[in-house]
Amino acid sequence: MSSTDKVILVTGGAGYIGSHTALLLLEAGYKVYIIDNLDNSVEEAIERVAKLAGKYRKNLFFYKVDLRNKDQLEKIFSMVRFDAVVHFAGLKAVGESVAKPLLYHENNLIGTLNLLDLMNEHGCTKLVFSSSATVYGQPKSVPCTEDFPLSATNPYGRTKLFIEEIIRDVQKADPEWSVILLRYFNPVGAHQSGLIGEDPRGIPNNLMPFVQQVAVGRLAELSVFGTDYPTRDGTGVRDYIHVMDLADGHIAALRKLFTGAKGCSVYNLGTGRGTSVLEIVAAFERASGKKIPLKFIGRRAGDSSEVYASTEKVERELHWRARYGIDEMCRDQWNWARENPWGYRAPDSMQQSVESSRF
Ligand code: NAD
Ligand code: UD1
Repeated sequence: MSSTDKVILVTGGAGYIGSHTALLLLEAGYKVYIIDNLDNSVEEAIERVAKLAGKYRKNLFFYKVDLRNKDQLEKIFSMVRFDAVVHFAGLKAVGESVAKPLLYHENNLIGTLNLLDLMNEHGCTKLVFSSSATVYGQPKSVPCTEDFPLSATNPYGRTKLFIEEIIRDVQKADPEWSVILLRYFNPVGAHQSGLIGEDPRGIPNNLMPFVQQVAVGRLAELSVFGTDYPTRDGTGVRDYIHVMDLADGHIAALRKLFTGAKGCSVYNLGTGRGTSVLEIVAAFERASGKKIPLKFIGRRAGDSSEVYASTEKVERELHWRARYGIDEMCRDQWNWARENPWGYRAPDSMQQSVESSRF
C-alpha cells in the first residue's frame, strides 16, 4: 500500500504543530482526518491548511469532537478505518496546569484513554504520540539522550510522563501495537507561506511568541528571565526547532511504523544545538528589523539553565535531521507575524462553529 491509500487520524490537528503536520501528511499523499475540539485553535487554521494543500485538499476531513466525548469519538472510528493515529490533542500551558491540575489530568489523560481504547477496539495499532522534553525534568547534563531518567516538575509534564507509561503498558499487553513517542524540544517558526503559524490565546508563556508580539506592538517589552545562568551570556539556553522540521519528523515516524517497526520507541526531535534568550532576540531583530525592548528580571521558577537534545538516535533510526537554523526560524516566525499580527483572529472577526466539514 502506498501512502496514498493510508488514512491517518490527527488529533489536535487544528493546533500549532498539528496543522503544519497535517499539511505535510497531505502533501505526502495521506488521507487526513482531523479531530479537534477547537479549545486552543480555530477552524480557520484548517481552512488555510486546505488552501495550502492545493490538489490534496480533497483528502482532508475535519470533525469538531472532544476526545473526552467517547460516544462521538466512537462514531468516527465506526465510520472510518484508520491506518495510524498521530496524537497531538492536549492542553499544554505549564502555569495553567499548576493552577488547574484536575483539568489537565482530565483532558490529557481521559482523552488519551478514550483514544487508545477505541484504537484497540477497532484494530488500529499504530500510534505516534506528542511527548515533550519536559519529561527530562531538570536534566543533570546536556545533551539529553532518550535514556535519561524521567521526571516531572509540574502537572502538565506529569500528564506527558503518565501517557508515555500508559502507552508502554498498552504496547506490552499487545505486541501488535507499534508506537513512536516523540519528545519535542522547543518548536518555533511557521510555514514559509506565512498562512499558518502559532496563535496563542492571551499573553504567551513561551519565548518566541512573546518576542513576536513585542515586535508587532501587542506587548511593550520582553522580560528576560534570569541573567546569571552558567551559560555564555547568562541567559537560558534551549533547543529551538523549526515547526516544519518537527512536522517532517512525524512523516519519518509514520514511515518507520508503516515499514514494519515493532514495539514502542522514543525519539527526541530537536536540532542538537542550544541558543540563548539573547541570541534569539538578536536573530529576531535581524529578521524583522524591529527593536525588541528588554527588561532583565529574575529567573522563572523551575527553569533549567541549559536544555538541548541528543539527535543521534533519531538520525540513525528514523533517518531524520533538522534542516533549518535560528535565522530561518526567525524569518518564518516574522513572516507569519507580519501577515497575521492578530493571529487567525482579526480583533473583530466572528468564528463559526461547524460540526464537520470536507475541504
Ligand atoms: P496546540 O494547543 O496548538 O494544539 C493542541 C490542539 O489540541 C488544540 O487545537 C486544541 O484545541 C486540541 N485539544 C486539546 N484538548 C482536546 C480534546 N480534549 N479534544 C480534542 N481536541 C483537543 O498545541 P501544540 O503546540 O500544537 O502542541 C501539540 C502537542 O504537542 C501537545 O500535546 C503538546 O503538549 C505537545 N508539545 C508541544 C510543545 C510546544 O512547545 N508547542 C512542546 C512539546 C510538546
Ligand atoms: C517550555 C515549557 C516546557 C516545554 C518546553 C518545550 C514552560 C514553563 N515550560 O519551557 O514544559 O517542555 O517549553 O516546549 O512553559 N524566557 C524569557 N522570557 C519569557 C519567556 C521565556 O526569558 O517571556 C526564557 C526562559 O527562561 C527560557 C527560554 O526563554 O530560558 C525559553 O522559554 P520557553 O519558551 O518558555 O521554553 P522552556 O523554558 O523550554
